[in-house]
This record gives sequence, structure tokens and C-alpha cells, in this order.
Amino acid sequence: MEFMDAVCARRSVRKFTEKKVERELIQEILKAGMAGPTALGKNPWQFLVMDESGSVEKLKEALPYGQYNCTAAIVVMGDVEISKHYWAVDALIAATNIVNAAADKGVDSVWIGLYPFEKEWVVVQEKVGLPENVKPACVIELGYGEEKLEARTQYMEERVHWNKY
Ligand SMILES: Cc1cc2nc3c(=O)[nH]c(=O)nc-3n(C[C@H](O)[C@H](O)[C@H](O)COP(=O)(O)O)c2cc1C
Repeated sequence: MEFMDAVCARRSVRKFTEKKVERELIQEILKAGMAGPTALGKNPWQFLVMDESGSVEKLKEALPYGQYNCTAAIVVMGDVEISKHYWAVDALIAATNIVNAAADKGVDSVWIGLYPFEKEWVVVQEKVGLPENVKPACVIELGYGEEKLEARTQYMEERVHWNKY
């Protein structure tokens, strides 16, 4: 897919079929995640991929706003020992690349927010047994959508300021 087509095709899908996302595809999607820029090139990311129903269901117990029937999920995390100030920014850039790469591969996704709410990410951290220094920034739920949402941009002319505000 052309880059702009993939970016506009990415929509939050919240109803999935039972078809599983192939591991090879998830690996390709993660390559996009780990292609993004990171502050000082520190690459503080960690990714926990759940692609078995038991592990997906367990993770979802920690996601009150992520109760969708996805077949896989990626916990996108940052290591504060590698990047104290930018772990979350770098993880969220990776997550953005992940959802766009998924769209490019015909895989649907929905972003479940955790950062900046420590109370929310700590629940996930404990549920999946992460070390203290590895913080989840968000979860990307994946699958093949039951529904096909319209591709679109949300371009707003009035939000664009050329040379002065
Ligand atoms: C930081 C962030 C947090 C989000 N958290 C949730 C969430 O917890 N649950 C959910 O169903 N969608 C969540 N979303 C998805 C948004 O609701 C969705 O992106 C927005 O409504 C626009 O729709 P679209 O993704 O189809 O373009 C989140 C998106 C972002 C960027």
C-alpha cells in the first residue's frame, strides 16, 4: 500500500473475527515499530506480544477500556533505566508506527491508552509481571476486523498556520 493510503486506512477497530494474526506479520509490524526515531538514539523500547488466547485474556483483565475480542495484543513499553525522560515518547512513536504498519498489512488495530496515567500502567505492569524499570505506555490490540471503517484524514485547514499563528 502507498504510505498515505495506509495511514488513512488505519482506523480503530473494536470488533474482530476469530482469524489469528500470523506471527510473521506481527514481526513485520514490529520492524516498523523499531524503525522510529528515539531521543538520543537510545531505543528504550520493549514489546510484549500476546498471541495466545489465554495470555490475551489475562492482559485484558488489566484493560477496562480495552474489552475487545482481539486475537493478539502488543504491550508497548519503555525502559526508564535506558531513557529516564523519553521512554514514553519513544514508545508512543513506536506504537504509532505499529498501528500504521498494521494497516499497511491489512491488520486492524485499536490503541488502548495507558501513559500518562501511572495508576493505569501499573495495573498492566503487575498483571503481566514486568520489572519495575519497564513501563507500559500503551497496548495495541490486533486482529482482522468484523467491520470495515472508512479510510480518511481529519485534515483541518484552520489548524494549519503558515509562517505566523
Ligand atoms: C492515546 C490514545 C489512547 C486511546 N485509548 C483508547 C482506549 O483506551 N480504548 C479505545 O477503545 N480506544 C482508544 N483510543 C482510540 C481512539 O478512541 C481513536 O483513535 C479515536 O476515536 C479516532 O478514531 P480512529 O482511530 O478510528 O481514527 C485511543 C487512542 C489514542 C491515540
